[in-house]
Amino acid sequence: MTTTAIEVGGPDPYEVRVGSAITEELGELIPDDVVRVAVIHPAALTDRADRLRGQLVERGMQVLPLVVPDGEAAKTADVAEHCWGELGAAGFTRSDLVVGLGGGATTDLAGFVAAAWLRGVRVVHLPTTLLGMVDAAIGGKTGINTAAGKNLVGAFHSPALVLCDLDSLRTMTRPDYASGLAEIIKAGFIRDPAVLDLIADDPEGAMTSDGRHTRELVVRAIQVKADVVSLDPTEAGEREILNYGHTLAHAIERREDYRWRHGDAVSVGLVFAAALAHADGRIPSDLVELHRTLLTDVDLPVTYPAEAWPELHETMRVDKKARGRRLRFVVLDALARPARLDDPAADLLAAAYEEVAQ
Ligand SMILES: NC(=O)c1ccc[n+]([C@@H]2O[C@H](COP(=O)([O-])OP(=O)(O)OC[C@H]3O[C@@H](n4cnc5c(N)ncnc54)[C@H](O)[C@@H]3O)[C@@H](O)[C@H]2O)c1
Repeated sequence: MTTTAIEVGGPDPYEVRVGSAITEELGELIPDDVVRVAVIHPAALTDRADRLRGQLVERGMQVLPLVVPDGEAAKTADVAEHCWGELGAAGFTRSDLVVGLGGGATTDLAGFVAAAWLRGVRVVHLPTTLLGMVDAAIGGKTGINTAAGKNLVGAFHSPALVLCDLDSLRTMTRPDYASGLAEIIKAGFIRDPAVLDLIADDPEGAMTSDGRHTRELVVRAIQVKADVVSLDPTEAGEREILNYGHTLAHAIERREDYRWRHGDAVSVGLVFAAALAHADGRIPSDLVELHRTLLTDVDLPVTYPAEAWPELHETMRVDKKARGRRLRFVVLDALARPARLDDPAADLLAAAYEEVAQ
């Protein structure tokens, strides 16, 4: 199978390569001046990290495996500090390379470790989850969680390269896979409606790594993110549209103490945002229904308890993306025509929430 290359522009352009078995390409894509490579990965991916190590050692590189806790538990200051200690002990210089191998949590940590070490060394991401491929590994946002909150400490640090090996998706659990699909569906609504047709054409296939349209769905979603972050690398404007569905989602995640999968919360948030646009007279009810149908077809949740509304409303008001105390939402004026809705009236918000309340 051939490799698809997607360019991400901006001040530090890079390539995202998508294909089968492309992890094997890493060795030949690493610049010649790299002597040491630190591979940051969770224990669950040790076999894959070992294969990578073999490949790099064969090409004369020194490889430092850095095993970090699984998932979100890796995104802490303690884990980052441990990694910096290991880099120091191995004599990592500015021309060496960090590799992040794992889901979005691992690549967020690896990116942050690389961003801060010697004020910035190169990082290559090898995302192994669907969400990692279509979202977390692209765009240069890196970060960790602290007592102050999730993702509040971090840096913009673009990767030098992202390799999305579709084979690595085979071992994902179905709910984790569906969580990534929420971001793909979001990409369809804000910019590339062909994504929605591909999901509608084969929802069952869309839920598996070897579905008829899987590769195209991944490539299209990456292209959407690449196009948007190329225009706005530091989240100063255009990039806000990627936040479609996320304002309510963040409030749900917080209420659930981050035990809900991100994509599940985004799924509810997408239906809410669509209902809000409809309540504001921007889109017809059948477009709201299209959100609900596609998300439900891939087993994503589209409802949340009715009694949670007052708490969710208050949490949204203090969301870091709210401007001051004013609430701001990304909504649609039409399919693939995102817009901002500033400070919607309380009754409009409540009416939209009715559409997801159970
Ligand atoms: N930087 C960004 O722009 C950005 C964007 C979106 C999300 N994120 C971050 O991404 C994280 C969520 O990413 P995620 O959903 O990938 O979660 P994750 O990294 O926590 O991975 C989920 C689970 O899947 C396991 N896993 C990884 N690859 C696997 C595979 N191929 N097969 C089976 N299991 C595998 C992991 O070990 C983990 O247990 C959050 O921390 C979020 O903040 C960052």
